[in-house]
Amino acid sequence: MPGLHDLSMVMNPIDSAQGLPNEHYVSDDMFAAEREALLFANWAGIGFAKDLEPGEAMPVDLAGLPLVALRTHEGEVKVFQNTCRHRGMILVERKKKLGGVLRCPYHSWCYALTGELVATPHVGGPGMNRHDGIRRDQLGLVEMRSYVWRDVIFVNVNGRAPGFTEYAGEAIARWSEFERQTLLAGGDESSFTFDIACNWKLVVENFCESYHLPWVHPGLNSYSRLEDHYNIEVPGRFSGQGTLVYRPMIETDGSAFPDFPGLSGKWDTGAEYLAIYPNVLMGTHRDHAFAVILEPNGKDRTRELVALYYSTEEAAKGDGLEPLRRKNAETWYGVFEEDLFVVEGMQKGRKGIRFDGGRFSPVMDGPTHCFHHWVASHMGCAVQAAE
Ligand code: FES
Ligand SMILES: [Fe+2]
Repeated sequence: MPGLHDLSMVMNPIDSAQGLPNEHYVSDDMFAAEREALLFANWAGIGFAKDLEPGEAMPVDLAGLPLVALRTHEGEVKVFQNTCRHRGMILVERKKKLGGVLRCPYHSWCYALTGELVATPHVGGPGMNRHDGIRRDQLGLVEMRSYVWRDVIFVNVNGRAPGFTEYAGEAIARWSEFERQTLLAGGDESSFTFDIACNWKLVVENFCESYHLPWVHPGLNSYSRLEDHYNIEVPGRFSGQGTLVYRPMIETDGSAFPDFPGLSGKWDTGAEYLAIYPNVLMGTHRDHAFAVILEPNGKDRTRELVALYYSTEEAAKGDGLEPLRRKNAETWYGVFEEDLFVVEGMQKGRKGIRFDGGRFSPVMDGPTHCFHHWVASHMGCAVQAAE
């Protein structure tokens, strides 16, 4: 695999570490290698559970791997490879309501929403719906390990990662006060997407750190200064940042979102932002939360899906708080939009053939280096496995 021998410099202590070499951002071969080692070997986010009513299915593309996520009539979210076991037809091309089964549009083989193959019309000849050579019990849909946390549907494609609650255990524990809460998705105004001309890792790297606030987010920085932030680093798992001066949004008439109940004093003015490696970003505050899924669409294309969540039905969907909800969504849209020129600019900068991966501020860039270290260690494992 290309260039992997260089990564010892990335693994160095932060004072002397270099960032990932250019090829991790500009090479199709490296994108493919990282797809296996980072996205498929770990728990990657693919979509939001809020987008699936019982009996609905939606196609999802994970870096070129076609998946279908669906919710059974019993309410369980499941993820399958979106490929028919007969002749390999794509099963679901756009989001839809299923009847009792998932029917392939080609020859009408039908699968239960739990994946079993339940109908094979005329497979043994006209009017013969069975054939001894076609063992239905061996031809169910290929299911991916999946887990829903904070409304994000995570999948482990290669099946070999630790269980999700172990994989994300430290993050779950860190935000355990929110585990007993229900995160209720806001309405249409509370979800938005960006199509970004950069490698997905650059969005993670930028989200992790607060160093850029004064220059990229002057509005945020006017009340949440650099010195009000702290780094969060859990090597091998996640990193991010927190603020000590979060202030809930209040409407001119005094209305505000209700807080999640029973939180400790830490959250009175605290808020935290975590990158759950590889491709999920999350934020939590006393009165709302967000989740971001990064869809890697090639070495230099990323779709960023953002969704906002609230503590009560009234806050999430009610008319009374609709103006405030809209304002909150616009504020976050603006913040994420402000980041676009730097993540796209870093992608452009990586065409500089003599760029050496760059350096990290030993004080301010810890969370970003933590992510690079994670990438390098997983790519190192991939090399060892290939040898
Ligand atoms: S390819 Fe699906 S039924 Fe033939
Ligand atoms: Fe930012």
